[in-house]
Amino acid sequence: MKSAKPYIQENKERFINELIDLIKIPSISADSNYKGNVIRTAEAVKESLEKAGCDSVEICETPGFPIVYGEKIINKNLPTILVYGHYDVQPADPINLWDSPPFEPVIKKTALHPEGAIFARGSSDDKGQMFMHVKALEYMTESNQLPCNVKFMIEGEEEVGSTSLGWFVERNHEKLANDIILISDTGMIAPDVPSITTGLRGLSYVEVEVTGPNRDLHSGLYGGAVANPINILTKMIASLHDKDNHITIPGFYDKVKELTATERAKMGEAPFSKEDYKNALDIKDTYGEIGYTTNERNSIRPTLDVNGIWGGYIGEGAKTVIASKAYAKISMRLVPDQDWEDITLLFKNHFESIAPDAVTVKVTPHHGGQAYVTPIDCTGYQAAEKAYEATFGKTPIPQRSGGSIPIVALFEKELKSKTILMGFGLDSDAIHSPNEHFGIWNFLKGIETIPQFYHYFTEMSK
Ligand code: BES
Ligand code: MN
Ligand code: MN
Repeated sequence: MKSAKPYIQENKERFINELIDLIKIPSISADSNYKGNVIRTAEAVKESLEKAGCDSVEICETPGFPIVYGEKIINKNLPTILVYGHYDVQPADPINLWDSPPFEPVIKKTALHPEGAIFARGSSDDKGQMFMHVKALEYMTESNQLPCNVKFMIEGEEEVGSTSLGWFVERNHEKLANDIILISDTGMIAPDVPSITTGLRGLSYVEVEVTGPNRDLHSGLYGGAVANPINILTKMIASLHDKDNHITIPGFYDKVKELTATERAKMGEAPFSKEDYKNALDIKDTYGEIGYTTNERNSIRPTLDVNGIWGGYIGEGAKTVIASKAYAKISMRLVPDQDWEDITLLFKNHFESIAPDAVTVKVTPHHGGQAYVTPIDCTGYQAAEKAYEATFGKTPIPQRSGGSIPIVALFEKELKSKTILMGFGLDSDAIHSPNEHFGIWNFLKGIETIPQFYHYFTEMSK
């Protein structure tokens, strides 16, 4: 495979402008006000795949948002790569913390991005990373170098749990048949420290509601004599971790696969500066489960975090009130071999059991998914390693991530194939946060590396 570098240099302005046009459409899947824009984005993705050289592209309707499916089949005897990505994005709020409007992309230089980065919601997660694959296909078809078959499956509900994608995959085994799945929706350590994500955590997301008295009460007349749901909820939440920051839900750790000392030592070799980490987040110290390093805490260990908590009076000034209800949204990040449905049930039973009689508790599961680990001895991983060596001049470091892409474990179950997570984002991209951005250098490096993966995977599959 010839280097894509010259082609990328010649076309980079156009690549960036096309990506910017895609990012401008606010495809927020969580907010029904944006429904039309989500659907418009699917159409834009379809068009881009047609232009890049797919033979056929369709918008597949689902009970939710559509899935864009495209393919180019050159020879049934050659391997098939299935590319997955998502065209939906997270809500942009809090809007006032953005330095520029979230859907009006601007290119700015930063210390980490001397060549500039595109600032906008979805620039990194996942429009920018997904679009690298579209442009890599364009390069391979334009230069007559596509070495194998390719299928694209780009969904619009990743940020809300991929419900319709599960539905679609279960019904389309044959259409989606492949030899390897390729995804760019994760990160790497640093521009000069390439890494390949070899693990994703699972997830169980629940909402809890604590109800005390049947109505809001005067906190003087009733305070002290009835249960305050907010007091109770915060107490219950606090009890979910012990003094060493272990999770106290009985059975929570039963299935957790502990890493061997050798595996942990290997993990510890990845370059990491705790000082830089603390400085980047403006914190005096890190915090977490005793006995584990920062990188272990955020990748190979399960966690429990409150994502939101509300109830009572939060308006201006003071109002003396005991609210009738208090709520929280809680996520648990899971590791192999924890089953998300088992954990959800353990949580529900435990949370209900620790509630005093003075309140009632309701636990509502939202969504979830299993953890995933890519074996580094499979053909796909080894081809990816060679691809990075070709474009970075360095062997990439395998690294387990703390994030979740729940659909990946389902791909393995339904389609029986492994997933290679070739992410080109950086932790500092601020995905899901204000001022999300994606480095131009990262974007172009991805476009350069992907064709190499096609080449080596095809070669090594012979
Ligand atoms: N692309 C992210 C996941 C990710 C980012 C994994 C960086 C590893 C490194 C994905 O879009 C995402 O945000 N996933 C959600 C889960 C989903 C069910 C909402 C997550 O991890 O919170
Ligand atoms: Mn994503
Ligand atoms: Mn995301």
